[in-house]
Amino acid sequence: MDFKRSDFPEGFLWGAATSSYQIEGHRFGGAGLTHWDSFAATPGNVVRAENGDRACDHYHRFEDDLDLLAAAGFDAYRFSTSWARVLPEGRGTPNAEGLDFYDRLTDAMLERGLKPCATLYHWELPQPLADLGGWRNRDIAGWFGDFTEVIMGRIGDRMHSVAPINEPWCVAWLSHFMGHHAPGMRDIRAAARAMHHVLLAHGTAIQRMRGLGMSNLGAVCNFEWADPADDSDAAREAALDYDAIYNRFFLGGMFHKAYPERVLSGLEPHLPEGWQDDFDTIAAPVDWVGLNYYTRKLIGPTVGPWPAHEEVDGPLPKTQMGWEIYPDGLYNFLTRTASEYTGDLPLYVTENGMASAEPHEDQDRIAYLNAHVAKAQQAMAEGVPLKGYFIWSLLDNYEWALGYEKRFGLVHVDFESLQRTPKASYEALKLALSK
Ligand code: FCB
Repeated sequence: MDFKRSDFPEGFLWGAATSSYQIEGHRFGGAGLTHWDSFAATPGNVVRAENGDRACDHYHRFEDDLDLLAAAGFDAYRFSTSWARVLPEGRGTPNAEGLDFYDRLTDAMLERGLKPCATLYHWELPQPLADLGGWRNRDIAGWFGDFTEVIMGRIGDRMHSVAPINEPWCVAWLSHFMGHHAPGMRDIRAAARAMHHVLLAHGTAIQRMRGLGMSNLGAVCNFEWADPADDSDAAREAALDYDAIYNRFFLGGMFHKAYPERVLSGLEPHLPEGWQDDFDTIAAPVDWVGLNYYTRKLIGPTVGPWPAHEEVDGPLPKTQMGWEIYPDGLYNFLTRTASEYTGDLPLYVTENGMASAEPHEDQDRIAYLNAHVAKAQQAMAEGVPLKGYFIWSLLDNYEWALGYEKRFGLVHVDFESLQRTPKASYEALKLALSK
C-alpha cells in the first residue's frame, strides 16, 4: 500500500466490514425467514436466484474468519446482527441459538483483540414483519426498538460501537422506489414512508440503547457523488435532486431536524401524517457518523413525474460492478459532512472497497484503496475528524441482487469448497498495518 499505520494518528482504527445475511448462512441455527429469501425466490430479482442460505458459512467458520482479521492487523471488525436470527418472528420469543451465536462471536473478537463494531440491521427484515408492511408500517420503529433491546441486552456490554441501520437510502429508496432490493417495490408512497420510518427506527434504537446505558452510538449512511451529465441547467437541477434524495435527506433529518425542500417537493404528499413531529426522536444525539462510499453518478433529466432524472453512463474507469472510480467523492463527502452536518463529531469511513473479478492478484483493489485512503488523508489534513477506516469486505460474499459473482473480498472464497484464500490486497494491508 502507499500508506502505513504510522502515517495516521495514534488510535486511528483500521477495520474490515461484513454483514450477517451476506456471509453467515441463513439456513443454519434457527434463523427465521427474511424478505431477502422471498425476494431472491422470485424469478428475475437476483442473478441465478441465489440467496443467503449458505453464503460463506461464517456461522460455522467464524473463528477462522476472525483469525484472518486479526492476522491482517485490523483493530476492529464491523459486523451486523440478523434480526431474523435473533427473533425468527421479528417479535416475541428469541431464538436462543441466535443469541448464543452473537455472544460467542463477540467473545471471539475480544479474545483476538478486535473491537466489536455492530450494525443492528443490514437488510434482512424478518418476513412476518414484511407481511405487516415492513418499513411502510410506522410500528416498525417500536419493533426495531424491541429487537435492539433483546440483542444489545445480550451483547451490548461488550460492543465498542453500535449503529442501528446500515444505509437508510438502500433500505428505503433502493428497495421501495427503485425496486432493486427486497421487498422489490416501485411505489413512491411506499418509498416516502420507508424514508421516514427508517429514520424513526434509527432514533428509537439510539434512545433504547441509551436506556441500556450504552455509549459510542452512531449512524451509517451511504453516499454517491452526483455530477450533472452535461452543462445544461436541467442536468444541474437533476444532479441536485439526486444529491438531495441520496445524500442529504437522512443527514438532514438527523442533524437539521428537517428534510431538504427538493425532496419534500416530491415526497411530501406521501409522507405519513404527523411526520413533522418525529424529529426529536430522529435527531436523538449520536456520537459519530459513518460514511459508506464507493462511486459517483452522472445524472441527467428525463421526461416524466418527479424526480424525473436518470443515471447516465460515465467515462471514468469502472469496477466489476460497473461503478466509476472517483476518489474525489470521498474527500467531498468527508469535508461536506463535517462542515454542513456533523461539526466536530468523529467520522468514520465505515465502507469503502471495490468488486474485482481478479481472484488473487487484485492489484486493482490495492490501487483503489490507495487512491481513496489518500483522499481521506487530504480531508484529515484539512481538519476533518476522521477516526477510522473500514474496508468492504473481509470476504467475497453474497452481493445482494448480483448474487455471488461480484467479489469485494480481501480474502477469496471458493463458493464450492468454501475455502478462504487471502488475496494480494490482504497481504499488502497486513504489511501496511503492522505495528
Ligand atoms: C453497500 C452495502 C454492502 C455491500 C456493498 C458493496 O451498499 O452496505 O452490503 O453490498 O455496498
